[in-house]
Amino acid sequence: MDFKSLREKNGLSVEDAARLVGVSARTIKRWEKGITSPRRSDLRVLKDRLPGQIGPIGEAASFTFVDLFAGIGGMRRGFEAAGGKCIFTSEWDDYARRTYQANFPDEHEIAGDITEIDERDIPRHDVLLAGFPCQPFSIAGVSKKNALGRQHGFMDKAQGTLFFDVLRILKYHRPAAFLLENVKNLKGHNGGDTFATILGALENELGYKVSTRVIDAKGYVPQHRERIFIAGFREDTGFSFDSFEFPDPQAGPKLDSILHACDEHPEGHFTVPPDSQPTNSASIVSSKYTLSDKLWTYLQNYAEKHRAKGNGFGFGLNGPDDKARTLSARYYKDGSEILIRQEGQNPRRLTPRECARLMGFDSDGTDPMKIPVSDTRAYKQFGNAVVVPVVAQIARYMERHILQIKGQGEARENSRARSPVHNGHRNPDRMYG
Ligand SMILES: C[S@@+](CC[C@H](N)C(=O)[O-])C[C@H]1O[C@@H](n2cnc3c(N)ncnc32)[C@H](O)[C@@H]1O
Repeated sequence: MDFKSLREKNGLSVEDAARLVGVSARTIKRWEKGITSPRRSDLRVLKDRLPGQIGPIGEAASFTFVDLFAGIGGMRRGFEAAGGKCIFTSEWDDYARRTYQANFPDEHEIAGDITEIDERDIPRHDVLLAGFPCQPFSIAGVSKKNALGRQHGFMDKAQGTLFFDVLRILKYHRPAAFLLENVKNLKGHNGGDTFATILGALENELGYKVSTRVIDAKGYVPQHRERIFIAGFREDTGFSFDSFEFPDPQAGPKLDSILHACDEHPEGHFTVPPDSQPTNSASIVSSKYTLSDKLWTYLQNYAEKHRAKGNGFGFGLNGPDDKARTLSARYYKDGSEILIRQEGQNPRRLTPRECARLMGFDSDGTDPMKIPVSDTRAYKQFGNAVVVPVVAQIARYMERHILQIKGQGEARENSRARSPVHNGHRNPDRMYG
């Protein structure tokens, strides 16, 4: 089916279709007149609209983005708060997809394994987001290329890793910007080689202007959580993490801001009805989160053994005035990194709802995060996620720069379309670059 028929079948005006696909109305008209052709991914945007989505789309978003390695959508929440619209998601874990879908029941389906997705099937976008898993790079391919006198080879080196999938999508679409997120020790991974390869590929081979920063979420949520953020822009807009302020980690909120309050409306399986318990902040939480005598004894003995050897391992025992250690994806095992003191009882784990708050998913003014999976899955998902207000802050800092590049791209496209020399030549249907 051609673009015009698909647009009409979806009940979209030229302007709505332009917003949805991420091109100007002028470009749509040119496609429909047969002067230029849409890409495969442009047709797919309309083909993939779910039946319930037939009809005009809402207000124009200020920019569009794709959410790769999406998990439960922490990056997405941050960028939506800055005015972005998510137009494509990839996540292969069924349980993470379930949580994502419950929270973003929107017009696009979630794509699966990113290694199986052809970049041409991803819609054009302004920003690419990815919290990709960190893998070592093989050096085999590179030494061969170096032997052939090639200067770069960073992309070759990344082949076979999930970061390579990020690169090939960036290379094909050349979005205005990207934001990548990873653990702090990505910098030191494999003796610094992993990080050097990543920056080499993004800067030298793809030509992006890159800025990186390790940010501790402790200024936003009561949790010490350091993550590295890598922001890149297709053009030099002067963006630098160094010029931005992030809140002082020492001054941030304490655990009392995320723990269940004694007057909290009980929620399903996380808390017990207030009329069956005395009202204090410990007892409102269901007893299934309290550690068994066996586990608590084991954790204390384990900590003691390591203390005797001079190691720092052990549990983190917290009260309402503390800040927590980093919530990990293995929290479901014993909860040892963040235990909450309870008077006259063994300590307890955080509930999944408290984890949602600890990761900034339930900040003021947003609907409470829907948690449709088991506690074990929920702990894994929150432990893997980003802290939403950190990403929201970065997104706000990036927005002006994204729009600046996007504006330049649109101006270029319009002048090309007006110029008879370029009509029908040199990728006139491409909005960017
Ligand atoms: C570190 S987590 C990202 C979490 C996300 N930033 C959030 O806030 O929830 C990485 C995610 O990548 C997903 N993943 C790993 N390999 C994948 C692949 N080949 N295709 C799609 N998703 C993948 C994992 O299931 C996991 O949810």
